[in-house]
This record gives sequence, structure tokens and C-alpha cells, in this order.
Amino acid sequence: MSKPSKKLMLRALDGETLARPPFWFMRQAGRYLEEYRKVRKTAPNFLSFCHSPDLATEVTLQPLRRYGFDAAILFSDILVIPDALGQKVEFREGEGPVLEPVRSSDDLGRLSMDGLIDRMAPIFETVRRLSRDIPETTALIGFAGSPWTVATYMVEGGGSKDYQATRTWAYADPEAFGRLIDLLVDATSAYLVEQVRNGAEIIQLFDTWAGVLPEAEFRRWVIDPNARIVANLRSACPGVPVIGFPRGAGLLYEDFVRETGVDGVSLDATVPTQWASDVLQPLCTVQGNLDNILLLAGGPAMEHAVTRILDVLGRGPFIFNLGHGILPPTPPENVARVVEMIMERG
Ligand code: CP3
Repeated sequence: MSKPSKKLMLRALDGETLARPPFWFMRQAGRYLEEYRKVRKTAPNFLSFCHSPDLATEVTLQPLRRYGFDAAILFSDILVIPDALGQKVEFREGEGPVLEPVRSSDDLGRLSMDGLIDRMAPIFETVRRLSRDIPETTALIGFAGSPWTVATYMVEGGGSKDYQATRTWAYADPEAFGRLIDLLVDATSAYLVEQVRNGAEIIQLFDTWAGVLPEAEFRRWVIDPNARIVANLRSACPGVPVIGFPRGAGLLYEDFVRETGVDGVSLDATVPTQWASDVLQPLCTVQGNLDNILLLAGGPAMEHAVTRILDVLGRGPFIFNLGHGILPPTPPENVARVVEMIMERG
């Protein structure tokens, strides 16, 4: 039995059903907050922002001060891994990430894990400061992108609509593409273990583009690499819960949960609430899944959806969250309203 003093996030991930579920929101630190925009302006570029312990610690704490979330998520990005592996990564204003594409065995040869942990030292310093500075009832979440999703940015050279270059490479030459995925499994595992050693209490793996793959490829490039990272974490950091987020996985959410061994699964907004309750919740803790556009729109439509999610998923082990990250135009008062509705539960 868990002690009542244990953090709500850890109790939920331990399988407890709570009267008032813990809550945090993906991208809870970000441009929808004026205090974030103010700090963001002081950094010359987004990567140096992620590598500044002063700035990254401050913006991680900002949403906690406003809303009292039950979890803090380390402020960083999934693309710090390709950067640390030696790929050129840039974030351009209004354009998003731009990378020098990796598309061949030769390109792969230029990436290396040597010195990876040293290059990421400022991020671990941020984790140490956060574990010292967050309220004692708040849990600290560390995170990384999952190999498939990070690979799409590495291969396409940025965001994409259909992931043509990545899928073509994966389907036509799975042996070479598999070496990129293997490198990402190793780098991501080492990076996450180091986050835990510095104070992260929960790990979330973001597989944002999991939903573009057919079944066989989903098993090979989503389930298998996530399962290997979970196994590596289990052996290096026993007892640290892992939340997986195979966004857009549809019916394959079930096999993802069964075969990766995650403690929690984060649901995108398209996953039907009752199906999640019937099929997924008996297997692990579920997290989600308010549509981020409903949060932006606010009003009765948002309130209706929040009530339904709380009523149905609140009957089992559950963490309230969004189906995807908060969007920059979201009114902060809509976030406050959702928080109020959750707090009314207990
Ligand atoms: O959730 C949090 O509050 C922690 C911070 C966090 C960021 N990125 C900060 C960020 C997390 C967990 C991420 C993860 C991330 N980054 C994902 C997976 C989750 C998801 O949202 O799907 C992905 C795919 C990325 C890649 C990425 N980072 C893109 C495509 C962009 C540009 C688009 C955009 O929103 O600007 C980023 C930049 C980024 N990462 C910003 C933030 C707050 C905005 C940059 C800025 O403030 O200038």
C-alpha cells in the first residue's frame, strides 16, 4: 500500500484510483504564457534556451506557480538528442526546427555517442535544480522523443506532412534505417538514465508521429524501440515509472501497452473515452486526453468534454492531461477553468 503522503502522480502510476486525479498539461510551459514569452526573448536561440539551467528552470516553474500542476516537466526539447549526436539542428523563428538531413549510411557515420552525456550536462543541471526547487507534492517528469519520431526530424530535416523520406528509407532499407533507430535507442536510454540519476521521478516518451505507420512497421519502429528503452530504464533505474505516448496509434494502443511494458499511456484526443476505460485502463494507468483545440475554444464544449473524461476515466487509474500540447493562442483562463473543474472532484 502506498503511503498517503506519496505524490499523487506516483500513486496514480502505481495503479491507484484517486478521487481527484493528478493533472499536468503537455507543453504547459510555452508561448501561451506571457511570462514565458518574456524569458524566451532573453535567449539568442531556442537550443541555447534549452541549455541554460537558469532560463529552463525558471520557465519550468512558471506554470506550476499559476496552476499548481501535480507534475513539472523538464523544459527542453526532443531535438536535443540529434544535436548532441553531432547533427546540425537549428530552430528558426516562425519556421520550426531545421536539420541537416541524415539519409544514408555515410550520414550515419558522422553521428556519434562519444561525449553525449557531457554535451548535455546543462540539461542535467536543470534537472538537479528542479528536483530541489519544485513543491514537495509535485513530481518531476523527465522526457525524450521516441526513436521513430526523432528519426523523422533527422531524416526529413525538419517537420513534414507525410514523412516520405523517412518512410521510404525505413521500408526500402530497414537494415540501414535500423542502425539509426538502434543509435537512438542507445542515446535516448543513456540520456534518460542520466535524467533519473539527477532527480527525474517519472519518464515520458513522446512518439508524436507513431500514427503514420502501418501495422507491421508500427511494431518494428514504434513498439520495439520503445520496449527496448523501457527495458533499459527498468534495469538501470528500477521503480521509475514510464509513460508512453504513441500518438495516433488507434487500435494499436493496446498492443503498444502490452508489449512495451509502460506503466502509463498518454492518449491522443481521438481515442474514445469508453474504449480507453474498457480496454486500456485494466492494463495500465491512462493519461489524457482533452482535445487541445477544445482548451483553446473554451466554454460549454470544453466543460462538457472535461466532465465526460473525469467521469469515465476517473473510475480507474488516471492522470488528467491533453491529447497533445497546449497551443500558443490558448487563453490562460481556459486552463484555469479546467484546473478548477478537476479540483472540484476532491
Ligand atoms: O511540455 C513542456 O512544457 C516541456 C517542453 C517541451 C517542448 N517540446 C518545448 C518547446 C516538450 C515536452 C517538447 C517535446 C517536443 N518537441 C515534441 C513532442 C511532443 C509534441 O508536442 O508533439 C516535438 C515533436 C518537438 C519538436 C519541436 N519543438 C517542434 C516541431 C517545434 C516547433 C514548433 C513550435 O511549437 O514552435 C519545437 C519548439 C518548441 N519546443 C517550443 C517549445 C516551448 C516553441 C519554441 C519557442 O518558444 O520559440
